[in-house]
Amino acid sequence: MTHKIAPSILSADFANLGRDIKMINTSQADFIHVDVMDGVFVPNISLGLPIVKAIKKYAEKPLDVHLMIVNPEKYITEFKNAGASILTVHAEACVHLHRTIYEIKENGMKAGVAINPHTPVAALKEIIKDIDLVCVMSVNPGFGGQKFIENTYCKIEELKIMSSLHNIELMIEIDGGVTIENYKKLINAGANVLVAGNTVFSSENPIETIKILKQ
Ligand code: DX5
Ligand code: ZN
Repeated sequence: MTHKIAPSILSADFANLGRDIKMINTSQADFIHVDVMDGVFVPNISLGLPIVKAIKKYAEKPLDVHLMIVNPEKYITEFKNAGASILTVHAEACVHLHRTIYEIKENGMKAGVAINPHTPVAALKEIIKDIDLVCVMSVNPGFGGQKFIENTYCKIEELKIMSSLHNIELMIEIDGGVTIENYKKLINAGANVLVAGNTVFSSENPIETIKILKQ
């Protein structure tokens, strides 16, 4: 699988969201990464369902929705109706992760599970066969523009071994601190979806930056 790029709209200009979505539409990006934060699971509040719906109206790429909220199982149908194609929940936020994953899939979405920097890959051992995407947090979730945590490379290795053991095609997504300097190393390590917020939106030419990240 050639790697995919998911610009994170957390770093977009929220007063010009339509413009920034159109930029992503015309770029080589594969997904639009949408970070939902509740101020409880993470120490920040970002956006909710009405904004996801508004993004969907303009988006020509699938919405990769990353829920950084407690009790995500309560909102699965709502996010489906708002336009999510991939719905990612945090392993740390789900008591009944297996049930939640199946509810996401029954709602016609791809199911993703995110793990915080301190959560071992082994926590996914019993459900790896059931999920479409693992979102490896390479920063502590909550904010854009943070420094990449180097231990992420070890987690990618472990995930690669785990997925080949089960002979499954797993999306290994890296979220946080992806830059022009480290994206190639991440792909070589086995990552196949790269989220990029700050790197894309703080660059002079976001379309060109996405093109570089795709190479
Ligand atoms: C962090 C979010 C990320 C964030 C990444 O909690 O999950 O998706 O937007 O931003 P950058 O690429 O700026 O680290
Ligand atoms: Zn994210």
